[in-house]
Amino acid sequence: MLLILMTYEPELARLGVYDARAPRYTSYPTAVQFNKTVGMDFAKSELAALPVDKPVSIYIHIPFCERLCWFCACRTQGTKTASPVTAYLEHVIAEIDLVAQQLPKGIMASRIHWGGGTPTILTPDQIKLLASALEQKIPHTKDAEFSVEIDPTLVNQAKIDALVAQGMNRASIGVQDFAQNVQKAIGREQSFETTQKCVEMLRRANVRSLNMDILYGLPHQTEISVLDTIHKVQTLSPDRIALYGYAHVPWMAKRQQLIDETALPNGETRHDLFQTMAKELETSGYTPVGIDHFAKPTDDMAIATGKGRLRRNFQGYTTDDMDTLIGLGASSISKYPNGYVQNEAKSSDYTQAIKGGTLTSYRGIEMTREDHMIARAIGMIMCDFAIDYPTLINEFGDDLSCLNKAVLNLQKEYKDIVSFSKSGLKIVKHKRSIARLIAKAFDQYIDDSAKFSAVS
Ligand SMILES: C[S@@+](CC[C@H](N)C(=O)[O-])C[C@H]1O[C@@H](n2cnc3c(N)ncnc32)[C@H](O)[C@@H]1O
Ligand code: SF4
Repeated sequence: MLLILMTYEPELARLGVYDARAPRYTSYPTAVQFNKTVGMDFAKSELAALPVDKPVSIYIHIPFCERLCWFCACRTQGTKTASPVTAYLEHVIAEIDLVAQQLPKGIMASRIHWGGGTPTILTPDQIKLLASALEQKIPHTKDAEFSVEIDPTLVNQAKIDALVAQGMNRASIGVQDFAQNVQKAIGREQSFETTQKCVEMLRRANVRSLNMDILYGLPHQTEISVLDTIHKVQTLSPDRIALYGYAHVPWMAKRQQLIDETALPNGETRHDLFQTMAKELETSGYTPVGIDHFAKPTDDMAIATGKGRLRRNFQGYTTDDMDTLIGLGASSISKYPNGYVQNEAKSSDYTQAIKGGTLTSYRGIEMTREDHMIARAIGMIMCDFAIDYPTLINEFGDDLSCLNKAVLNLQKEYKDIVSFSKSGLKIVKHKRSIARLIAKAFDQYIDDSAKFSAVS
């Protein structure tokens, strides 16, 4: 193990991995490629053509928070008053109605996710209103999974009980880091006790699956401090952990300009921080999942890993292999069998369109057969660190020629890291930091002048 690290790390440096940037490939083509020639008409025809016997997944975006953390790159706005949330909610409920009018009668939802922002900004009554409006228009399957992103500083037992009464069975808790100096530097203060109380409330309400979001690459983090965060997380025993690399993108997320860049770790240190945290999680029994998730061996995600059943969507890793994810709310992206469509991003544009009685789909991309095949190949790299040609041939037919150029380039550039055979290719060494770069090699749209977050 040590030998591999010793010989591999200079190799990563030589390949420029520590400084490299690439999309996170939660979709392919990525949102940068969306354009306004694909919008409402496309969304309507995709919705109407969905097979009634295949359940869909639903994402609802709640773009409001009471606090605005400096590090956060999510699309959200701060509010201390209830009125913008109340007004927004009315529009989301109207959008559910508009979408349901397009859908074939009887179609059901099997996965529902509320994200943000902070969905727990909603009151118990608002939670009931939104969840029942959705269930009434798009009934849920008996075994539906309903997950919600939770800010431990903006939740109480009444809200959790209201969510559980509406079927919430998975929760994702934002932690990031427990060290006080790191929390101060990222403008997000949250004591261990607050997080612990949130976990206790969720468990008391019988929520069976808990995820925690942790970040590496934050200002002032050291190997000792991140280990302390991991140890504290371990005492709370979440089923899943998302260990994301902090994406410092102040040109997009303006509030990140408040972060002292001189306190950020460099690429090599980020890499080491991840390795330290990952090793600790693996040693304590968590199974690594994809590039940045960990799950208890009994969790669905760990079980799906290595069996070709892991998938990637806008929420990160999932066991959901749906063809359709309907995104509701401002800026939400829908995935349809033939492409992607995004809703108006600004809340004001979104509400204006809904008021006019129309869907708000304003940009997207229609996918070709080639796009679908490359999307599947990139998905395999991000989930399985390999591409399996027989699976691609089975799903798309014999012609894999659109992969040839990337494979030839990889054979030149990454021959010590990727192994090639008749049945596909496989990333053979420490793979997390390299996976996004290998995926990028297959991206037919990549524009190297575009700015992405660091891969390691
Ligand atoms: C919607 S927030 C979580 C829910 C809730 N609002 C909270 O703060 O607890 C989603 C997650 O995105 C991740 N995230 C936000 N900004 C990020 C960034 N700049 N880089 C990496 N991850 C980020 C954080 O881990 C965060 O928990
Ligand atoms: S981390 Fe959560 S609470 Fe903080 S700004 Fe982002 S979405 Fe809002």
